[in-house]
Amino acid sequence: MAIVYLTRRFHFSSSHRLHSDMLDEKTNIEIFGQCNNPYGHGHNYELEVTIKGTPDPATGMIINLYDLKKIVNEKLISSVDHKHLNEDVDFMRGIVPTAENLVVEFWQILKDALPAGELYELKLFETPNNVALYRGEWE
Ligand code: NI
Repeated sequence: MAIVYLTRRFHFSSSHRLHSDMLDEKTNIEIFGQCNNPYGHGHNYELEVTIKGTPDPATGMIINLYDLKKIVNEKLISSVDHKHLNEDVDFMRGIVPTAENLVVEFWQILKDALPAGELYELKLFETPNNVALYRGEWE
């Protein structure tokens, strides 16, 4: 059976503030600069969700893209789109909302939510130039 990787791209807009409760005010400003501004700033994020699997012989599909879209929108995008990631999103509470931390939390939400195939990779574009990629690995 051929193993195929299928990707769908999602979009959401959120605001955030990069600030760590583990660091003092001065150090937060030194490390995060403008991104530490008290009232936050926004990004137009792009998230690529890649599923690994074998195409069903009858349908030719690993997963129905309609189902994938619906699940990711319901379980994840709806909780972050047009929200303040530090203030409005329960699963980000106490976590610095960098792209790295976001993509790891997104993985926890999506990994068991898919009806077919397995979650292979999440790629989160914070800007066209800044990308965090996660494949569920720990060390
Ligand atoms: Ni930012």
